[in-house]
Amino acid sequence: MRSMKGVILHGGRGTRLRPLTHTGPKQLIPIANKPMSQYALEDLREAGIRDIAIVLGDVTPEKVIEYYGDGSNFGVRVTYIRQGEPKGIAQAVGLAQDYVGDDLFVVYLGDNLLRDGIRNLVEDFRGSNAAGQIALCHVKNPEAFGVAELNREGRVVRLIEKPKAPPSDLALVGVYMFRSMIFDVIDRLRPSERGELEITEAVQGLMDMGYEVASHVVSGWWKDTGKPEDILEANQLVLSDIRPINRGRLEGDAIVTGKVSIDEGTVIGTGCTIRGPVIIGKNCKLGPETYVGPYSSVGDDVSIRGGEIENSIIVGDTVIECGKRIVNSLIGRNSRIVSADMNLPKGYKLILGENTFISI
Ligand code: DAU
Repeated sequence: MRSMKGVILHGGRGTRLRPLTHTGPKQLIPIANKPMSQYALEDLREAGIRDIAIVLGDVTPEKVIEYYGDGSNFGVRVTYIRQGEPKGIAQAVGLAQDYVGDDLFVVYLGDNLLRDGIRNLVEDFRGSNAAGQIALCHVKNPEAFGVAELNREGRVVRLIEKPKAPPSDLALVGVYMFRSMIFDVIDRLRPSERGELEITEAVQGLMDMGYEVASHVVSGWWKDTGKPEDILEANQLVLSDIRPINRGRLEGDAIVTGKVSIDEGTVIGTGCTIRGPVIIGKNCKLGPETYVGPYSSVGDDVSIRGGEIENSIIVGDTVIECGKRIVNSLIGRNSRIVSADMNLPKGYKLILGENTFISI
């Protein structure tokens, strides 16, 4: 079978996710305790693709290299390509030309999650002669994406990036498949109004040159994670399908109900209630008398004493001892949230980085 490669985009600014993206690329933010871009890598691997290039941006690219290494821990071979400053998705794809050569390839935006993976999409593309293949998904807010205009026969006739008056509700999913002629199109692209080489224009360019571009509408959910709310929603979607397992230890009358995954070395103290779907990482200490409710992901080495957590992501290495109810929150690594009840003068004491959001 003809060999096929993968290209995962790991750059960009992640502006809407600051301050989390001051200290790492957004694609490393965990969803159900796994970096977002690992879902892309695993989808590529499940589709039989073993050679993967990761295109790095300028926000701590060394953290990405440290995590994925040469790919052997993940069952793939990873090569790194440096983009640095984000000049557009198509510009990033263009940088992969030497790596890809004449092979077919998949571009997977590292902040996109697809419930059903890409196996069927890859099989269809391999079996076709199309120069490109796009995936589409019905959405409520098409103006936030690239949008496809279809003719009466249901064929894509035009693609428009973030149109003010969308011609359909079919958004372009961030997974594209190409043959090598896409590189000729990218070479001729000019920057868009936002100063980027747009992938949407590159695919349009293929069609304008008379090449066939196949399209598929995905059936399972698809999530692009631009904003904190999107991350929490992606977390809910992934946790809904989680496999319950308990590798930790429950003490006294601790109660665990619903789908809950607890990793090694974690202790759930007496008086605690964990109501799934919930995932809790390694070496955490919860309790006593602590509630962790549906759609919460707690990373490794977290200590939570008292209070309640619901619909939130706690990345890891964090202490929460405030006895309060924390909901819909995204809490970065190495945070401390402690009680102010004994402090004088009374009041909230905050040490917050730039672009922090709190609602108290
Ligand atoms: O998620 C799907 C959407 O992705 C499509 O519907 C749009 O047509 C497509 O343009 C893109 O839109 P976004 O505005 O969401 O793209 P964003 O700038 O957020 O970048 C998407 C991913 O690619 C993100 O993980 C960062 C990475 N990226 C982006 C740029 C501009 C890079 O690695 N390098 C870049 O230069």
